[in-house]
Amino acid sequence: MKYRELGRTGWKVSEISFGAWAIGGAWGNVDDQESLAALHAALDGGVNFFDTADVYGDGHSERLLAKLKKERQETFYITTKAGRRLPQQTPGGYSRENLTAWVERSLRNLETDVIDLLQLHCPHPDVYYRPEVFGILDDLAKAGKIRYYGVSVEKVEEALKAIEFPGVQTVQIIFNIFRQRPRELFFPEAKRRKVGILARVPLASGMLSGKFTRDSKFEKDDHRHFNRHGAAFDRGETFAGVDYETGLRAVEKLKLLAPKNATPAQLALRWILEFPAVTCAIPGAKRPAQVAENIAASDLKPMSRAALKKIDVIYNTDIKPLVHQYW
Ligand SMILES: NC(=O)c1ccc[n+]([C@@H]2O[C@H](COP(=O)([O-])OP(=O)(O)OC[C@H]3O[C@@H](n4cnc5c(N)ncnc54)[C@H](OP(=O)(O)O)[C@@H]3O)[C@@H](O)[C@H]2O)c1
Repeated sequence: MKYRELGRTGWKVSEISFGAWAIGGAWGNVDDQESLAALHAALDGGVNFFDTADVYGDGHSERLLAKLKKERQETFYITTKAGRRLPQQTPGGYSRENLTAWVERSLRNLETDVIDLLQLHCPHPDVYYRPEVFGILDDLAKAGKIRYYGVSVEKVEEALKAIEFPGVQTVQIIFNIFRQRPRELFFPEAKRRKVGILARVPLASGMLSGKFTRDSKFEKDDHRHFNRHGAAFDRGETFAGVDYETGLRAVEKLKLLAPKNATPAQLALRWILEFPAVTCAIPGAKRPAQVAENIAASDLKPMSRAALKKIDVIYNTDIKPLVHQYW
């Protein structure tokens, strides 16, 4: 495992880290024993950074991470998110009272006195025009409730606006072979300001692993079943906003580019690591075998210019018109 500096925090985090949404909920059936085994496998493989949120399984994901902390001795970082407990996303919802209550709840779930990194969880875009919200986060840091803060965003424009606030250490954004716009304007600007980038949905909800077919079935409580058209949250969070059939066709072409010693999932993760502005990819995983496969992407050789070019061609022809200007 290789490590990269996270913003101006002074932390070095694993370039393949762990996304803990699926082990909380909204991804069909999960088994806590298996989820915990996946978390242990991540630590065994050198992962030292875990991304969760107060709403993943209504706190279940945070509580599993608290359990992991009790079962292991080594130092690792947990970042959680706040804001999605609001019944509706309104800028006014990001009040001192609400933010404080969400932070206190996460502290209890995580069984800790201080949150390593708190991210606003895809808030209403007007939040980025309310400096007082970032003032509240500064106060929470001064009070010792959080060490650092960052944001998770849907759109590049939100990311660019967010990093105008000097306290923002990290931006979490969808970045994968199917979602390439962040590399254009946002990456150079984030790098210039030393803002860490957490690349989420790196496998396009598992699509880029190449395991799905036209006949794949998803359980009713799996967002890949219920959120394909954005019924519950932004449609871009499911298969990165690419419609299922188009995704399958593009993945068939991508599979041919995986080197002999690598799987399509590893190719997808290695591609993300080619961008030095990215601090880490945070693939979700439900099982230890998935974790082992994902973290091994850090040991792969850098990709050839020719392979990168071929991926650009697939993106430009098959995917770009469907997603590029939406997020
Ligand atoms: N708004 C936000 O802030 C937000 C939104 C989305 C995600 N996130 C964060 O980003 C993380 C990653 O995104 P994501 O979990 O949505 O999507 P993802 O990482 O692209 O996909 C994860 C899913 O792909 C499957 N998978 C993982 N490794 C695999 C492998 N090696 N081979 C085959 N299948 C594999 C697993 O599901 P199955 O085994 O069921 O197929 C897993 O749950 C989340 O866990 C969360 O921490 C944040």
